[in-house]
Amino acid sequence: MTYATLEVFRQDASLGIAPHFDIFKVPLDEKDKTTVLEALEYILMNLDSSLGFRRYCCGLQSCNSCLMEIDGKAAPACHTLVEGGRTTRVKPLEGKVARDLIVDK
Ligand code: FES
Repeated sequence: MTYATLEVFRQDASLGIAPHFDIFKVPLDEKDKTTVLEALEYILMNLDSSLGFRRYCCGLQSCNSCLMEIDGKAAPACHTLVEGGRTTRVKPLEGKVARDLIVDK
């Protein structure tokens, strides 16, 4: 089994958690890739239930509600892939961070 590494931005001013990155290893299936949104869902369900991100997915790859900064560029988490052996850095888009990857719009 291979793993993708995600460096995920974390911050929660209401709990006094200063901005930093947490590193997670996400196991991949035989396709050796998954989407950023699925990887975050795995982290939430299996590694850290406190991770904050918008879980909604339109299923059409068209609404852009899942936009995040992925490896330095704004990209939709629902159809941007992470791959085995690679490290992907995930941050919220510019704006006031409500918690972790959630921006107050
Ligand atoms: S959830 Fe709609 S484009 Fe990603």
